[in-house]
Amino acid sequence: MKKNIVLIGFMGVGKGTTARAYAKKYGVFNIDTDDLIESKENQRIKMIFKEHGEGYFRSLEQDCADWIEKSVDNSFISCGGGFYKVNNLKKLGTVVLLDASYDWIYNRLSTAENSKSKLKKRPLFAEPKKAKKLYEERAKIYKKLADKVVNVEDKNIDEILENIHTLTYI
Ligand code: S3P
Repeated sequence: MKKNIVLIGFMGVGKGTTARAYAKKYGVFNIDTDDLIESKENQRIKMIFKEHGEGYFRSLEQDCADWIEKSVDNSFISCGGGFYKVNNLKKLGTVVLLDASYDWIYNRLSTAENSKSKLKKRPLFAEPKKAKKLYEERAKIYKKLADKVVNVEDKNIDEILENIHTLTYI
């Protein structure tokens, strides 16, 4: 079994921020699946969606998962919100869900300092109504796939990091 921590959850729940803080605090490497895909394609996610469509983006996520399965261990992996669809997620490490309600996530994104760019770079958040529907469709699937669940509402970053560490420390 791999010793990666694989962080899943809905867009905007704070996976990237959490992952970077975790890596710094516990001295591990963090890799982010969206960043890997952008660097492999030399293109922003938004443009990949626009030019090639969502199906192509999902195939890049699968390539990314295959590479992680073959080549990555002892790392913290933050995943795009739809990465759970890859067919080998559970082989990549301990799957941790960052969980929060849709309203909390929407509020976090829309009140962030750089809220415009946070919303703009996420094509599937372009229409809040559609995003909410997507959240409702995915919420149960995330929970089913997760080995551990960390609710982030009303928690500061240190509490979140400690929760993850305690739940995954072997
Ligand atoms: C997606 C989430 C995004 C990114 C892409 C698709 C999704 O990542 O991978 O826009 O399907 O939920 P974040 O969860 O980091 O926003």
